[in-house]
Amino acid sequence: MAATPGITSQPWGKMPDGRPVQLFTLANARGMRVAITNYGGIVQSIVVPDRHGKPGDVVLGYNSLAGYLGDTATYFGALIGRYANRIAFGRFTLDGRVYRLAINNGKNSLHGGIYGFNRRLWTARARTTPAGPALELRYTSQDGEEGYPGELAVRVVYTLTANDGLRIVYTATTDKDTVLNLTNHTYFNLDGEGHGSILPTVMTIYAHHYTPINANLIPTGKIAPVEGTPLDFLRPTPVGARIRDNFAQLKYAGGYDFNYVLDSQSGRLALAATAVDPRSGRRLRVYTTQPGIQFYTGNFLNSKIRGKHGHVYNFRDGFTLETQHYPDSPNHPNFPTTELKPGQTFRQTTVYAFGTVR
Ligand code: GLA
Repeated sequence: MAATPGITSQPWGKMPDGRPVQLFTLANARGMRVAITNYGGIVQSIVVPDRHGKPGDVVLGYNSLAGYLGDTATYFGALIGRYANRIAFGRFTLDGRVYRLAINNGKNSLHGGIYGFNRRLWTARARTTPAGPALELRYTSQDGEEGYPGELAVRVVYTLTANDGLRIVYTATTDKDTVLNLTNHTYFNLDGEGHGSILPTVMTIYAHHYTPINANLIPTGKIAPVEGTPLDFLRPTPVGARIRDNFAQLKYAGGYDFNYVLDSQSGRLALAATAVDPRSGRRLRVYTTQPGIQFYTGNFLNSKIRGKHGHVYNFRDGFTLETQHYPDSPNHPNFPTTELKPGQTFRQTTVYAFGTVR
């Protein structure tokens, strides 16, 4: 699958207000291709070979911008901000002041509110770097946007590396004290999008602990061991092996939808999870500097979703591994802080690295 490495762009429709949207395609010499749009910073496709060298798209999503504009529920492929996952009742206190956020998930605020970063048009710049072709995306979030304090300047750089890694570097600065939790919400099906259930995928998550949730998927504030529970993925285990177990946490979430407290809390890039699809032989390794990862098994997907090439995405046809700080951290002082102050630079790195097993 030799190819010319580089980055190209094409027009990809218009925002409702008429601004033009682009789709960028990053390619490396091994034939891996990643398509990313500056609408929501969405990873629209990732094409990687299976164990026989046959390329396949392993990312759920839509063929066109219209699909993404019309979907406010799945967050397929998108950059998430200002705050990944839920903030209880869309409310938190910072420096003695109560902030109220846009509510978009029951009584809670999910993934940045109604107009999160996933629905914004980012300013894009294609770059060629020593590490590989890169797409730099910038977005300035206004003071008060979706209820969050401070004008926030965000920069996300996606780089496709020579050894089949998609590296995401997030940086941000603020002009007022604020809270921030950035992630990417790509759904994977390593056998190929539209190939059905991800339950056969063999998952390893390098975490001895997780943050238990209540029935509204809000952290209780506890940090609990995974040992002896169906949430234990310290040893490679098929996703479906225990997903129907009679365990209250699984019932609340309708499957896996948990923040794992990663064993590495150093802030340095460390292996967080490995997923292997036994059918195609594709392997995904996730490295991150973040302290947590949300493992979500597409429990809210339903057959109404018509994705790429007319594929219907059903319940559990994709999984996410969202590197992050813990959900609802602003309301849990015992969780690693998500505060960002003027003069500080937020910086996190995540790598989705692809390969195959025999
Ligand atoms: C995250 C959450 C899930 C769900 C999805 C989007 O993964 O943890 O509960 O909201 O986003 O559908």
